[in-house]
Amino acid sequence: MTARDFVPPTNDLAALAAASLTCKGCHLWEHATQTVFGEGPPGARVVLVGEQPGDKEDLAGEPFVGPAGGLLDRALADAGIDRSMTYVTNIVKHFKWTPRGKRRIHQKPNATEIKACWPWLEAEVAAIKPDIVVCLGATAAQGVLGRQFKVTQRRGEILESPHGWRVTATVHPSSILRADDARRQLEYEAFVRDLQAVAPLLA
Ligand code: URA
Ligand code: SF4
Repeated sequence: MTARDFVPPTNDLAALAAASLTCKGCHLWEHATQTVFGEGPPGARVVLVGEQPGDKEDLAGEPFVGPAGGLLDRALADAGIDRSMTYVTNIVKHFKWTPRGKRRIHQKPNATEIKACWPWLEAEVAAIKPDIVVCLGATAAQGVLGRQFKVTQRRGEILESPHGWRVTATVHPSSILRADDARRQLEYEAFVRDLQAVAPLLA
């Protein structure tokens, strides 16, 4: 099973988003509230790709609206990029979680789930034709650039993906939130620098 059977043959983002709501391309839809499709203008020059929706995103039905999203907003602004001009999405569109008491703890999507959900990202990028795709964190970066790709070694480089997309990769905003106090500001500044490298590429 993959999302392939659920993706309509269209470059209309609204139609893709609507179709994604009924996707059963892997089992992740079963325990999630809803599909969290990408969001942003069809003419966006930058596509930002995270891992998967978190708890807040699952409930809101929108990507990056929780704590990681807050940090992403601030970093984009500091890099001189207006978030409302970007298209923000995830490599996996349903929240994967495990219960711990009353909380839902995020679980990393596995290779099968990433592969199953891939047709949606492919359709989003085909519809938007951005100048660059920015992968946030290793899950997105490895999904787009291959399992061997190492964000720590190659962050901020401008690359071409096997599908011919112009791509760059940086850390996931959550990793900055998790960093200890001594590291957090440095990590944040490095993240902003990676995002700044994207600005001159925008048509
Ligand atoms: N983390 C992600 O990778 N994506 C979101 O949408 C929110 C948090
Ligand atoms: Fe479909 Fe992706 Fe959700 Fe799996 S995670 S059901 S492939 S939208």
